[in-house]
Amino acid sequence: MDFGDLSATYKRDHQPGWPEMSEVRRARGTLARAAPLVSAHDIRRLRARLAEPTFLLQAGDCAETFQDNTRASVAGRAALLQALSDTIEARSGRPVVTVGRIAGQYAKPRSAPTERRGGVSLPSYLGDAVNGADFTVDGRTPDPRNLIRAYEESGRTLSQLANSAVFSSHEALLLDYEQPLTRRSADDGRLYGHSAHLLWIGERTRSLTGPHVDFAAEISNPIAVKIGPGATPTVLTGLHAVLNPDNIPGRLTFIFRMGRHRAYDLVYAMLSRILAEGWVDRVVCDPMHGNTVVSPAGVKTRVVTSIEEEIRAFFAACNDTGFTPGGIHLEVSGDDVTECVATRVDDAFLAANYRTACDPRLNPEQASSLAQLVGELLVPHRDFGPRVEMAMSGR
Ligand code: PEP
Ligand code: CO
Repeated sequence: MDFGDLSATYKRDHQPGWPEMSEVRRARGTLARAAPLVSAHDIRRLRARLAEPTFLLQAGDCAETFQDNTRASVAGRAALLQALSDTIEARSGRPVVTVGRIAGQYAKPRSAPTERRGGVSLPSYLGDAVNGADFTVDGRTPDPRNLIRAYEESGRTLSQLANSAVFSSHEALLLDYEQPLTRRSADDGRLYGHSAHLLWIGERTRSLTGPHVDFAAEISNPIAVKIGPGATPTVLTGLHAVLNPDNIPGRLTFIFRMGRHRAYDLVYAMLSRILAEGWVDRVVCDPMHGNTVVSPAGVKTRVVTSIEEEIRAFFAACNDTGFTPGGIHLEVSGDDVTECVATRVDDAFLAANYRTACDPRLNPEQASSLAQLVGELLVPHRDFGPRVEMAMSGR
């Protein structure tokens, strides 16, 4: 197999270089005939909750894996999400909407199309919906049958979540998965992506001329877009025009992941634009993805105090502009992992229980302490501020 070709394909819009297009067509056909994973009714229910002055807790694995999709793991993750929401709600008095990075978070964009280890170069791990994490030719070769497995695993997770108040979300990255799971609702005639309640577009695929924004514009789910430090307020203008042209509350969320040093200034500039334009879009802080560091031993980690710093910067920017903070986006595990460190990078700590398939996650204790902080920071914002009310009713 020619992995040179694979990486060339991969570079276009972060889609995998599938080796067998006939298998991809077969998988897409199977998904197109399959039952929706989530109902249009529940998608609309989440959208309605996001249209209210709620606070969004969105959290879960960076990358779910088929292997860890056990009943015990799902129960642990759901319990943690609920506990984090309860903490924020109890501390702040703001109603919290709980959305997991769960039941479909099986595809990852990567900064490099290939990974090199000891002179061997193979395609990067792109999530269990594409290939395996094992560093072997077999493991790393994209296999379209993984799309079907991702659908099945997600269905099992969702049936276990059915009695909990957790909505599902994932990055809408793999168009060979998302497009065939789109259906038109008989109730309102609109298209919905039925792979999850909320779908987000990542920092790497939010180009206005790329296929991901086009896809998101077509469907009526609540949509979120990650916004990193390279973006300007003009980027928001373009995204708002395409994704929420009628300025409807509950439709569009911007998730800022700026990195702790620049978060205050960059978020301040973004919020100023949103307020000046009178957009109703929600703003959320992802304090994880701009604060990843590599340990001396070469392990990806995040320092909890750095994460706190970005959270404080985000809330300060909201406070100083008079904008209502709309939510927090975290990478967490229900297990007692050692992937993020408390105050300083420590390889001995990281070695104890480092299990993530992609980015480092907070363990339940670390996540709970951040939920307490968020709850406290939210208190002054219990009501929509006057400037925000103007923006909500204006235009
Ligand atoms: C993620 O959320 O795991 C991710 C890849 O984020 P971003 O698009 O912000 O880099
Ligand atoms: Co991540």
